[in-house]
Amino acid sequence: METIQTIQTRPFTDQKPGTSGLRKKVRVFQQPHYLQNFVQSIVDALPESGRQRLVVGGDGRFYNREAIQIILEILVANGIREVLVGEGGILSTPAVSNLIRQTGADGGIVLSASHNPGGPDEDFGIKFNNASGAPAPESVTQKIFDSTRSIQQYRRMPLPPVDLSAGRSYRFLDTDVHVVSSVDDYARLMTTLFDFDRLRDAVSQGRVNLQFDAMHAVTGPYARRIFHDMLGLKPAFLHNVSPSEDFGGGHPDPNRVHAHDLWERMMSAQATDLGAASDGDGDRNMIMGRNTFVSPSDSLALIAEHSACIPQFRSGLIGVARSMPTSTAIDRVAAALGIPCYETPTGWKFFGNLLDAGKVRLCGEESFGTSGDHVREKDGVWAVLCWLSILVETGLSVQELLQRHWARFGRSYYCRHDYEGLAAPAAEAVMQGLLADADTIARQSFAGNAIAKVDSFTYADPVDGSISANQGVRILFENGNRIVYRLSGTGTDSATLRVYLEQIEQRMDHLQHDALEFNRELGRFAHQVAQIGALTGAQAPSVMT
Ligand code: G1P
Ligand code: ZN
Repeated sequence: METIQTIQTRPFTDQKPGTSGLRKKVRVFQQPHYLQNFVQSIVDALPESGRQRLVVGGDGRFYNREAIQIILEILVANGIREVLVGEGGILSTPAVSNLIRQTGADGGIVLSASHNPGGPDEDFGIKFNNASGAPAPESVTQKIFDSTRSIQQYRRMPLPPVDLSAGRSYRFLDTDVHVVSSVDDYARLMTTLFDFDRLRDAVSQGRVNLQFDAMHAVTGPYARRIFHDMLGLKPAFLHNVSPSEDFGGGHPDPNRVHAHDLWERMMSAQATDLGAASDGDGDRNMIMGRNTFVSPSDSLALIAEHSACIPQFRSGLIGVARSMPTSTAIDRVAAALGIPCYETPTGWKFFGNLLDAGKVRLCGEESFGTSGDHVREKDGVWAVLCWLSILVETGLSVQELLQRHWARFGRSYYCRHDYEGLAAPAAEAVMQGLLADADTIARQSFAGNAIAKVDSFTYADPVDGSISANQGVRILFENGNRIVYRLSGTGTDSATLRVYLEQIEQRMDHLQHDALEFNRELGRFAHQVAQIGALTGAQAPSVMT
């Protein structure tokens, strides 16, 4: 047996985790020592008592396998007692979160760049989740980052190529490595949250028809097991369920643009009662009905409204949370239910404390993320099961559900304008300019609506009191409408400015517009007051969703 090697290295200056871990081009990760430095820094951030058991898995994108071999070598050399690895190195992000929780692990390493494309010239990512299964909070990511800036050496135990077939177990020095099923534990968890007998009756008999697009990404095996094996959905309704390293050459982001095939089918005679898609690592979801798209913010609000249809929530929702840019639709449902609605910064990690403290049981983001207190990540397949349950229990169509919701609570016309490919200093200048001009902007109005205030969002975590400042600039109108500006924290090269637009409409006869169209003028106003054209050269957003 070889012995543990101590490898001399030098810090890389660009290993600061963003909104969701460290994301870079594959080629950046392939540089000698790059991944190794980061993994050693994760280990160094663990307390001695936190080195008993870790979970490792990824979305199967290009470089997943190589990365797992490297990670195992470092974990073994650092004396981690037990490592659970997903079969073939595959685990969806919510499945990692679940495994950490089910096995009482000290944490987990998730390999994914989520919805970003995969392949030798595309993206890769690595993220650490803590013992509750949640993405590490800022205090921990800061510790990891600090360590990446001072690291001088890492430990490595050379291992033969580790065969990751399910059921295999190994003992390397003091470390036990177990290869576990990617799907079993997650599927079992779902059966404790939903009424599978009722869902199976409805789905297998075609009373509620579903189609699901896994976008050649990680949810393929989960969808086959849960929707086909367990609920009896015909295979013809499962699309792109064979995962591939480059996601079939596509962009595994479940939205109108990238889940275009599903979108077209749901807008045609091939539509089913429910249509859904999930992203690269299985945490995002897109929900559609016949000829209907459900905005993620509305989806969150409707799940809260109909939480009694979901066995997991029958004991009461207690509280809900949304990220700040997410529309206020769920706030109105929470008010009607008499429960609190928390507003957190963008990024799932901010929900962790609220969930752990039992203050909320359902949370979501406008970026196609929704989940409950069963894991500490957003969960795409789970969101589909929520909607399926709502359709089965209410007997209503997606369209009817939306219309009833809007009639009762008003409609948040919501969309997001992204300005991609900006030079970072120019994007920064927009954010600085907004704050510098806040008083002048606050004196303006849009379509006769006065602005109540312009501010920079600061979050004080109600559980641990930690403060997160500079989480986006908000233009808040007196009537509740909003414009929010923030810079993306998940990009791998240039900067992206996100502009979130929300206009709330109460009048029944005004509820049938297309959200993009409805917000077009507000988008122009947002563009102009922030001087985006002058400061960045971008004359219009590159993506509107
Ligand atoms: C984006 C989304 C955010 C989500 C994150 C990870 O981050 O906006 O809601 O949590 O991806 O999926 P951003 O690029 O805006 O920093
Ligand atoms: Zn994702």
